Amino acid sequence: MNINLAIKIGAKFLRNKFILNSYLDSEILMTRAVNKDKKYILLNLDKNLNKMELAKFNKLILKRCQGNPIAYLTNKKFFWNSEFFVTSDTLIPRPDTELIVENVLNLTKHKNKINVLDIGIGSGCILLSILKERTNFYGTGIDISKKCINISKINAINLNVSSRVKLYKSDVDKFNLGKYDLVVSNPPYIKKYVIKYLERNVAKFEPKIALDGGLDGLSEIRRTIKKTSELIKKKGIFILEIGFNQKNNVIKILKNEGFYINSTQKDLGNNDRCIVSTKI
Ligand SMILES: C[S@@+](CC[C@H](N)C(=O)[O-])C[C@H]1O[C@@H](n2cnc3c(N)ncnc32)[C@H](O)[C@@H]1O
Repeated sequence: MNINLAIKIGAKFLRNKFILNSYLDSEILMTRAVNKDKKYILLNLDKNLNKMELAKFNKLILKRCQGNPIAYLTNKKFFWNSEFFVTSDTLIPRPDTELIVENVLNLTKHKNKINVLDIGIGSGCILLSILKERTNFYGTGIDISKKCINISKINAINLNVSSRVKLYKSDVDKFNLGKYDLVVSNPPYIKKYVIKYLERNVAKFEPKIALDGGLDGLSEIRRTIKKTSELIKKKGIFILEIGFNQKNNVIKILKNEGFYINSTQKDLGNNDRCIVSTKI
């Protein structure tokens, strides 16, 4: 079977399972099956697939039909200015989270050699994007998941920033190393009982530990704010991602822990998503 026909058949399977962008997904999975880029696929549509390539393609289509996210099937996700290696052990980096990077870059135009802490680093998308843009900043990333730390290490090497980053497997409560000019975090903030009602792709395939914010959705946010207030320098900046309905509650917690609220920002869907604050 040639590449063109296989992509068309794959797309039909996906369409029958109500997968949006079925043709595009089928094309992307073909790049993975033959281990080539999209340009190669488009220039070689009439090339025949060998048995192994076809078997790999069929397997990927089947997994996609079951709802597996494309990012986990290709082990890639583009975020800010770089491609990140991801596996089902990490949250898939979201475009909304780029708000944090945008804020950091706006607020640090004239800063040099500052220390940045990322609490719950996941794939490394936030911290490593910042280090890539600000070539004299230093970064520390922590995560409760050892697998996330290992994936962040790979991404730090791929982005050529590994000499400026330290990574620790640690629970946020137990981490007590260093003092930071800037802290960023996208903690888990979904209410425990709501997780099962999220989109199938998210609920079934993304790591629960990256989503679960406890009964009220705020338990990891509380711990992150408390830890940040201990580790951040006076006048240090804290940029936090929050759930769409958490702004007022989180502002209260921040104020109680001695933070001044600089601004709150909405995401691409017009939901409150990010709070910028300063330690007084
Ligand atoms: C929402 S994900 C964010 C990942 C990444 N920063 C991003 O924006 O894509 C939250 C991360 O926090 C980590 N995490 C959850 N509970 C934690 C805890 N108690 N201490 C440290 N990290 C934690 C999870 O493993 C996960 O990688």
